[in-house]
Amino acid sequence: MTNQRVLITGGAGCLGANIIDRYGENGNQYLVIDNFATSDRAVLEGFSKSIQVIEGSVYDRELVDSAFDKFRPTHVVHSAASYKDPDNWQEDANTNIDGTINVAKASIRHDVRRFINFQTSLCYGIPNETPIPITHPVQPFSSYGISKAAGEQYLLMSGLPVVSLRLANVTGPRLSIGPIPTFYTRLKAGKGCFCSDSVRDFLDMSDFFSLFDLVLQDDAPTGVFNVSTGKGNTIKDVFDEVVKYLGITLKTEVPIIPVGADDTPIMVLDATVTEKTFNWKAKVDFEQTIKKMLQWYDVNGVATVYSHVKKPEGQE
Ligand SMILES: NC(=O)c1ccc[n+]([C@@H]2O[C@H](COP(=O)([O-])OP(=O)(O)OC[C@H]3O[C@@H](n4cnc5c(N)ncnc54)[C@H](O)[C@@H]3O)[C@@H](O)[C@H]2O)c1
Repeated sequence: MTNQRVLITGGAGCLGANIIDRYGENGNQYLVIDNFATSDRAVLEGFSKSIQVIEGSVYDRELVDSAFDKFRPTHVVHSAASYKDPDNWQEDANTNIDGTINVAKASIRHDVRRFINFQTSLCYGIPNETPIPITHPVQPFSSYGISKAAGEQYLLMSGLPVVSLRLANVTGPRLSIGPIPTFYTRLKAGKGCFCSDSVRDFLDMSDFFSLFDLVLQDDAPTGVFNVSTGKGNTIKDVFDEVVKYLGITLKTEVPIIPVGADDTPIMVLDATVTEKTFNWKAKVDFEQTIKKMLQWYDVNGVATVYSHVKKPEGQE
């Protein structure tokens, strides 16, 4: 992507900041709208001067409209999402539904060339089959999943050139959600851990970008696509990789606890259609993916860890 005007909602977040990092030097201009609910403004300070930042919520329609009118984006990457308090349904709905509608309506007015949305695999709820094909019904059951699913449905009926990427757990610079930063931080601090009895798929940032490069192109297909290696690993597998990497000898076995009512036991996406459509395939295996992430934490540290699931009783 070169010489484009890219509006990124949630641009200070993990994926948003990585996108700016990747394309920042190619004559592109960026406008970030972020309320810093799960990110830090300082993340954007290390980038080049072609980034403008508006602190505010996508729920604020006037703010969104005025940002679009002044910046006149060619491309929109809608990365803002609310998930950090599973009981705050109103905030999830404000950001993930109303906020998405605001961004979609402004994008229609400005006739944007590409609209990239990111979707959580929680939109599939408790899946009927594994790995989950793209034709699987959308049946979310958590506030995050329900609100993100509704937002995506509005986008798909908007007539915009939308690509909605339904993502596995993307790991890479600045990741501050999920088991990898949690285990790394706690084990390094000598604290105890637990593993939920669940299976997830992990995708390295480099594989995410080899697809993202393709979906940004003007003539690329639109629609919904699963983005995954197609392979699942248990959270205990993640734990074991972190223990191995840190060279720790454990005195007791890590407790394995059942998944909470707000989480899904097995979540592995089938990306076959994406692979065929874009002639793309994830290349980095599970061990390498986790190792790359841990090496990044060694150099850069871990920011505050957020989660979309509740902690079990008794856990700090
Ligand atoms: N990273 C993954 O593995 C993954 C997996 C599935 C889906 N996703 C989706 O990808 C997108 C980015 O996720 P991420 O991992 O970068 O998360 P993140 O929390 O790092 O980034 C989300 C950003 O949105 C901002 N935000 C929240 N509410 C906002 C609001 N009302 N207005 C403006 N900004 C707001 C946050 O401050 C944050 O900077 C989200 O839509 C998420 O649902 C990510």
